[in-house]
Amino acid sequence: MSITNQNNKSTNRKTKITAPDIIAMKRRGEKIACLTAYDHLMAKHLSESNIDLILVGDSVGMVFSGYKNTIPVTVDDIIYHTRAVARGNERALVVADMPFMSYQVNLEEAIENAGRCIKEGRAEAVKFEGGSWLAETISYLVKIGIPVMGHLGLTPQSVNTIGGYRVQAREEEEAEELLTDAIKLEEAGAFSIVLEMVPSEVAKTVTERLSIPTIGIGAGLHCDGQILVTHDLLGIYDHFKPKFVRRYAHMAPEMKEAYARFIKDVKSNLFPSEEESF
Ligand code: KIV
Repeated sequence: MSITNQNNKSTNRKTKITAPDIIAMKRRGEKIACLTAYDHLMAKHLSESNIDLILVGDSVGMVFSGYKNTIPVTVDDIIYHTRAVARGNERALVVADMPFMSYQVNLEEAIENAGRCIKEGRAEAVKFEGGSWLAETISYLVKIGIPVMGHLGLTPQSVNTIGGYRVQAREEEEAEELLTDAIKLEEAGAFSIVLEMVPSEVAKTVTERLSIPTIGIGAGLHCDGQILVTHDLLGIYDHFKPKFVRRYAHMAPEMKEAYARFIKDVKSNLFPSEEESF
């Protein structure tokens, strides 16, 4: 039996999703739903909810570790979290986000670090931020059996050169450069490209031009798929809400309310009860 489901009308809910399946979804016009996870339980819930792709994002640095940006995240951090996610996931494609300076120095380091994420972290693909300068790396990794996802537009690892988290490719020249980069990544063998914080029309042009799927975050409705940071979607990360985030739950106040009730019960000798004791 084939492990891909390219001839099916929609993705079989029980089938393990692979990188070629993600491309096939674009071909048959099926939207691709992607979310982040950093731990086994969240990955299990996402997998059981039939998410298509789980990204172990370097957003782990801000959401989990409390850094002010993603720069300090290490390869070991990503491997640790990817391993936990892989243990919880059954169905989705698991993608490890390559952290800052794990692939920029030279091809050898990029290969070694991506290889570690696959071999030690049990990821099934890796993601890189950047344009055409990554073509050689991507092409080599694909040749040795490592699927690669690109990431264009706002690339948070470049926050210090960009000067903040703002919409990219508003100007025609930048939009053309983004399209050229996207084509180069596709030609190098990337199986999909994240487009972050770019105008809808720019994302539409790129999406129509490419045969591989675009996955948008703050890039409008025309992308082939969408991704959000799960903690944003759940309203757990409540310090700040970017314009492109839709909160499907408001868990931070509910969680704080539960903690407050527990504290109150402990302080007033109402927990544990007889039934909760041995
Ligand atoms: O690090 C991350 O979570 C990401 C996604 C938001 C695209 O790169």
